[in-house]
Formats: sequence, structure tokens, C-alpha cells
Amino acid sequence: MIFSHDVVIVGAGGAGLMAALYAKEGGADVAVVSKLHPLRSHTGAAQGGIGAALGNEEEDNWLWHTFDTVKGSDYLGDQDAIEIMCKDAPRTIIELEHYGVPFSRNKQGKISQRRFGGHTRNFGEAAVRRACHAADRTGHAIMHTLYDQCTRQGVRFYDEYQVLDLIMTPDGACNGAVAYEILTGEVHTFHSKIVCMATGGYGRAFKTTSNAHAGTGDGLAMVLRNGLPLEDMEFVQFHPTGLYRLGILITEGARGEGGILRNNDGERFMERYAPTVKDLAPRDLVSQCMYKEIRAGRGINGKEHLYLDMTHVGEEVLLKKLPEITIFSRTYMGVDPITEPIPVAPTCHYAMGGIPTNFNSQVETGNREAIVPGLYAAGECACVSVHGANRLGTNSLLDLVVFGRRAGMAMAQEIEERRRERKLPLPDAPEKRTRDMLEAILSRTEGEPVVNVRTDLQQSMMDNVSVFRNDETLSTAVADMEGLRQRARNVVVRDKGKAFNTELMDAVEIDFMVDYAEAIAAGAHHRTESRGAHSREDYDKRNDDEWLKHTIYQSDCEGNFEFSYKDVVITRFQPKERKY
Ligand code: FUM
Repeated sequence: MIFSHDVVIVGAGGAGLMAALYAKEGGADVAVVSKLHPLRSHTGAAQGGIGAALGNEEEDNWLWHTFDTVKGSDYLGDQDAIEIMCKDAPRTIIELEHYGVPFSRNKQGKISQRRFGGHTRNFGEAAVRRACHAADRTGHAIMHTLYDQCTRQGVRFYDEYQVLDLIMTPDGACNGAVAYEILTGEVHTFHSKIVCMATGGYGRAFKTTSNAHAGTGDGLAMVLRNGLPLEDMEFVQFHPTGLYRLGILITEGARGEGGILRNNDGERFMERYAPTVKDLAPRDLVSQCMYKEIRAGRGINGKEHLYLDMTHVGEEVLLKKLPEITIFSRTYMGVDPITEPIPVAPTCHYAMGGIPTNFNSQVETGNREAIVPGLYAAGECACVSVHGANRLGTNSLLDLVVFGRRAGMAMAQEIEERRRERKLPLPDAPEKRTRDMLEAILSRTEGEPVVNVRTDLQQSMMDNVSVFRNDETLSTAVADMEGLRQRARNVVVRDKGKAFNTELMDAVEIDFMVDYAEAIAAGAHHRTESRGAHSREDYDKRNDDEWLKHTIYQSDCEGNFEFSYKDVVITRFQPKERKY
């Protein structure tokens, strides 16, 4: 079937919903196509807060937020984009509140704010309470509210339609997408003037992750396969506090409310590494310090985890401000944080890199001057770049609402300008590549199951491309991808049916995963310095002379790739050594 809309948004998390809302309010006919029901999108897992210099608890300033974000990014973030985001943050929070987000309140009845890693007052002087939150279910509250608003505005949703390809014209414009309807197994064409990618992150390429099962980076692979580049893929964030072995998120808000990380000696070790902000240092630093403690033999009882101690924080705070993590600890670990420390270890959490975009979320071809007509991207799959080499906690929700909104407004304006134009014609058989791919998988009778390949991919990425990296581990990972690609293309699925064939989608996803995992490993191998979340044991210093630049990765998805570079935009804050 061919569905026709002005705008097709792929993905229904916070960025997709915000983009849909603004495009629709701006007069466009908007469809949101998502492989999940929208309310199962991963934005719902965001816990601790959304950053904005509202100053509800103490004096704050958007410029301090900007500085913290630039410093947190290890000076790789583009400062003009960061300024846009931080300046727009207070307005954004008020708007979300007016939409109906049930933010928690402080004693004065204002939106409650708490501390988060790397957020300071007066350019690094002391920690500031900047994270606006709805208990520790902030993403959940925002996502439900935006979904309500979208349905109220008449946005058209195609739930459980998994987009598998983009449709590009011979001139390189995007004018649609191809999707697999999970309920029926039918393949459909979406013909549009604009496509906006909002497909989220890719943490599922790593063995231990806070990401939902859906975080398989589909959008990034589709972009690569259509000859377009990715930016700064080597920067992958590990959140310091995942539940040991499971990776499930224990919000940084727990440390924002007074939680302390302790080693096997009971020591508050972050005092040694970051004397000013201690446990509330940025995530790259805390995760690296945790591994240093574990490697020095100070993991708990010799195991690869430490403790997050909340026992002094009190039952009232835990139940009122952190109910979700209290329940998670009890349910998944059998640990009650009111009386016992929580076993935690770093968990793969967030992709700083992604599809290069400008401020209006238009996809760039790799340099700042040229955009891909008809293609936008927003949220975690995009790279504006506001997070550079390391994202500050709370800036993810902020990024997706600020740049999702900007995408929506820009798309509405573009649709208005192109109102009298017809859609660019579809190529012959736009679905052919997808149908051939699915048919090849379904007709295969011999091969290994998807789970084997996925497990090996996740293990290789975890062993070789996680918090600490070096030439040997990264060469291994890049070489592993070659074999994994061949294996991913030869998996066999037992389910040959049409209805809800999730095994078939798993087979497609593992092939996607190899493409972007190769980008991460190759990017990390290529960047011979340490910066933010990219920490190389063999090049342990930041090297601004050679590497103060974004990497642009292009690949034929057959093992051949190349890099080019894009300048970092520096406006107010010259790169300095990061001290916390
Ligand atoms: O720790 C957290 O609640 C996560 C927040 C974030 O990634 O921004």
C-alpha cells in the first residue's frame, strides 16, 4: 500500500512527538511511523530530570548552563547550538508544564529542581539544582503528555510499523520511507515531502546497557546505507550507575539527592578524583573512576561493581522523589535502598554522535553548507552537536524537546513554502530493496540464529569499545565486525509467518547493528586522543592541536569506510583543561 502525507516522522519518542506536534500545529499533514506503540518509546525510561536554568532553588543563569554543557562536552560540542538549547530551556519547561507535564513541586509550589552531574553555578563554583523532574519518572511524564497533545491535534499514528529503508530521488532528496507492518507482515510505502528521523539511540550494541530492546540504531544504519554520513560515532556514554550485571538505570538524581558512591573500603572515592563536585562529576569522569577503583581491586568483595549508598538519605526522600529506583532496586536486585547500598556498575546509556544536522534539524551531507533535501533528524539519533564528547545528565530530554520543536517548526514552514508543489515522484519499485532483503532472510533454511550473532556483537563491543579503549582492543573490534557482518547476513529464522514475526525484525536489526557498531569501533580507532567518553589508554591526553574537530564517517556497509572532518564551533568558551 502507498500512504501519502506531507511529513513522515520515524520514531515516536520525545523528539518525534515534539516534531509531530509542531509540524501539525504549523499546518502540515503529519504521520508518525513507529516500530513500537508510542508510549513504549525509550524516552519513557528517562528518570532524573530535564535541565533548565529556572533558578527555582537558587540563582541560576542560562549562560552557566551553557558553560557547563560546553565543559561537559570536553569542548567538542558546537557552542552556538549549545547556546540555543540552554537559552531556550526555561521557556521549554514552562511550555511542557502548560501542556500538562506533572512536574514535582518544591515548598514554594514552584517546579522542583535537583542537582545533577556537572551542573554548576557561576562557571564551576559550586553545584546548582537545575534538573526539573517529575519524581524519577520525568521522561515518562513528558512522553505521555506529548502523546496526548499529538492525538488531540490529530497527528496520524502508524503503530508497530517498522521503517526499514528511506526513499531517495536520483538527485539525493528524500521523499519517503518503506515500512514493514508488524501485525500483518505487509510492506508499505510512505510517500512524503519530508521524512524526519527520530529513531533514538543504539545502546543495544553493548552487552550491558540501560537502553530498551528497541534501541538498535535502525535510523543510523538506514542513513549509512543511503550513502549519507554519521558524525562523532566514537563517543558513547556509559552512565555510572546501572544495576550490577543488568544495566538498568539508577538515576543520577539519586546522587543529586545525596547518594554517595563507595568502594570496598567504604571510601567515598570520588572525593579523591573530583574534590569540588565529588559524586556529581560528569558521567565520563565518574565511570572512568569507577573502573579505576575496580581495577585497583577495590570493587565490592572483589566483584566488578561498587556501591551507591542512599541509606543516609531517608525513606521520605526515596519514596517521594525516587520511587522508581527504589522499586527497581527491590524488584531486580532484592536490595532495599532505604537500608542497604545498591550494587552498581557503568552501563551503556547514550550516543553522543549520530546523523549530522543543523540547528533546524535538517540533515547535513557532511559539511555545514549542504543539506539533504527533505530529510530531518532530531533526538538521540541526531548530532547537532550539543553534547560533543560527553553529554551532561538532563540535557538529553532537553535536546529532544528543543530540537524536536525546531524540526517541527522548520518542517511546517517548508511544507507551507512547498504547498503548491507536488511530492517528488517515487522511483520505480521503491520497496524492492526491502522486499528482497526480507525474502532472502525468510527463504534461508540454514544458518545460525540471530541471538548468537547479537551476543557476540554485544560482547565484542563491551570488551573492546567501552569505557577504556586502546589500539589492540579497537583493532580487534573493527576486525570482529567483518566476520559479524557475514554472519548477520546469513542468520536463519524459524518463524516463516507473517503475523508478528519479531524474529524476522531481529534478523534485520542485527544487520543494522553491525553497520553502526563498525562506525563506533572504527571512529574510536581513528581518534588517537582521549576526550570525554572516548578514553584511550594509549593516547591518554586530549589533543586539541590535532583533534579539536568532529569526525564524519562514511561507509559502503561492506567494510570500506572513510573519515573526513568538520570544525567545532567555538564562540564564548576557549578550550581549557577540565577540572571538577
Ligand atoms: O540519570 C538519569 O536520570 C538519566 C538522565 C539522563 O540521561 O539525562
